Amino acid sequence: MSELNNITLKILSNGKGILAADESTGTMTKRLESVNVPSTSENRLLFRETLFSSESMKNCIGGVILYDETIKQTANSKKTIPELISTSGAVPGIKVDTGAKILANSTDEKITEGLDGLRERLKEYYKLGARFTKWRGVYTISDKYPSKLSIHSNAHALARYSSLAQECKMVPIVEPEILMDGNHSAEDCFNKTSEVINKCFEELILHKVDLTGIILKPNMILPGSSSDKKITSEEIAKLTLKCLKESVPTEVPGIAFLSGGQSEKEATENLNLINKHNDTNFIMTYSYGRALQQGALKFWSKDIQNIKGTQEIFNHRANMCTLAAQGKWSAELETK
Ligand code: 13P
Repeated sequence: MSELNNITLKILSNGKGILAADESTGTMTKRLESVNVPSTSENRLLFRETLFSSESMKNCIGGVILYDETIKQTANSKKTIPELISTSGAVPGIKVDTGAKILANSTDEKITEGLDGLRERLKEYYKLGARFTKWRGVYTISDKYPSKLSIHSNAHALARYSSLAQECKMVPIVEPEILMDGNHSAEDCFNKTSEVINKCFEELILHKVDLTGIILKPNMILPGSSSDKKITSEEIAKLTLKCLKESVPTEVPGIAFLSGGQSEKEATENLNLINKHNDTNFIMTYSYGRALQQGALKFWSKDIQNIKGTQEIFNHRANMCTLAAQGKWSAELETK
């Protein structure tokens, strides 16, 4: 087994998942201001450190995706943040793209940037302790989107990023995210997600990326958030599995879903059903941002010194997600 494959399995095995705590300062500021906490670098560190020193880091969280600011910060315990994460047995990771910008000649769509100077930045992050990385391509659905141009250019960037990450001995998370915004049907989401993922693998293979050393981070197959054609969680799970079975090469060891605006409970329930029906060899787990942190953030904002209380909320959420990653979650467990 390759070292990259070992890292992947360390992050994803035994129901473990990923805590996506890599919000850029702009996004984190929105999250903190929405709960009336000033977005200072001390407050951003305090909230994140509270999660990173919780009990569930040992049993549930296999990897944490950090943002550039956080990977360079030092915890109260005097450990660096990557050391704090590694001490609990989890793997530190880092978001390396520099954000989605307007795609020239398709003004309503985005292309993710960050390839220039990436090799040098990757080497620096490796020295700081990172062993996996993330890059997110973002796509919208409408009658004309995602366009071929957006599908092609984002897949190309994801593949160039992935080969550089592997060259620097880090596992790339390949994240093509189709946004939930819009009134499209689940069937549209299925078709577009299949097209996007197929193109990503075509490019990854062309760039000679070792598929046994990547993690795919896709969206689940859902109707648009303003669609009136709602479907059941069972249907979401079945469509998601069908899409991934048809478009992901079998060498890929694991798939870790983003939550993409689902509530904590929805994201947990859908992941649970995906695992109950999972008849593939892929590990299917979570790489959630909002669906792991929302409740903890709300609680913390009322008293930012209440570390223990905040950790209890986070531990519960992480436990629920880890049960779901094994198909062992049930709604009654939420109220316990
Ligand atoms: P959400 O789970 O909040 O969608 O965040 C995951 C993520 O990393 C998006 O890039």
